[in-house]
Amino acid sequence: MRPDLLTVDSKKLDTMSREELVKAFEVFSRTGSELVAYFSALEARIVELSRELERSRRLAAIGEVAAMLAHEIRNPLAGMELSVSVLKRQGLDGYQRELLENIHKGIKRLDIIISDILSFAQEISLEMAKTDIKELITSALSSLSHRLEEKNLDVEIDSGLSSGDGCIMIDRRYVERVLVNVLDNAIDASGEGGKLWITLWKTQDELWITIEDEGPGFSESALERALEPFFTTKTSGTGLGLAICNRILEAHRGRLVLENTERGGKVSICLPLS
Ligand SMILES: Nc1ncnc2c1ncn2[C@@H]1O[C@H](COP(=O)(O)OP(=O)(O)OP(=O)(O)O)[C@@H](O)[C@H]1O
Ligand SMILES: [Mg+2]
Repeated sequence: MRPDLLTVDSKKLDTMSREELVKAFEVFSRTGSELVAYFSALEARIVELSRELERSRRLAAIGEVAAMLAHEIRNPLAGMELSVSVLKRQGLDGYQRELLENIHKGIKRLDIIISDILSFAQEISLEMAKTDIKELITSALSSLSHRLEEKNLDVEIDSGLSSGDGCIMIDRRYVERVLVNVLDNAIDASGEGGKLWITLWKTQDELWITIEDEGPGFSESALERALEPFFTTKTSGTGLGLAICNRILEAHRGRLVLENTERGGKVSICLPLS
């Protein structure tokens, strides 16, 4: 409570002038309404925090079960892949080969899903090092070059940073993963021959990387829930890409912002400078 609101000594009350009493009354009534506002804000924050706590508990439980299942599934899957590889080397006719190829594709897809689940459930331990963010973006783009070429996408990088200004303390492996996941989604959302914009800028204490595409943008439910694990609108998606990004950025004390612009979808990655 503010100290200036507590200065009326009850013993002096009898000797106070009318003006002083009116003033004291005004101060007390102001204090009353300030307290009511303060407590209702506090109450709203408590409700919000208990919801967040409940959600984190639920996610932790899902994560544990998913990691356990992933481990259990991985061994028989490895056996299946080996058997399929052996069978593929036998003298099979075209139809049998095609069927086997479908099985093999399914096994590979399951393996990707399991890797995603395991990395979502995995504990994140950061190895921070000074990293040139522009160089990291180039590296992420080159790992996606085949996808960019496939869709004939143009990438424009607009860096508002002067040279040396883009160096930041991060865990390079993890942040590159964030960039790859976000770019991968932008490529998925883009049509043939489209364009992606990558913009870099800094505030006093944050570095921002925005990735924009010309796709249809986030659906209303995706804007609300895309950071939740297993939320996907894609037939072949696991829905873990952005959830993993969010975990990695939280570990860096950064954040991810999703929005739509008149161009399409826009994802902003925020990293603290210290
Ligand atoms: N650039 C984008 N434009 C429009 N929607 C997007 C974009 N990026 C993500 N989304 C939406 O967010 C959802 C969740 O994305 P996320 O990367 O977590 O999972 P996914 O891409 O569906 O699957 P995964 O990445 O696991 O293969 C997507 O299914 C899509 O609906
Ligand atoms: Mg994705």
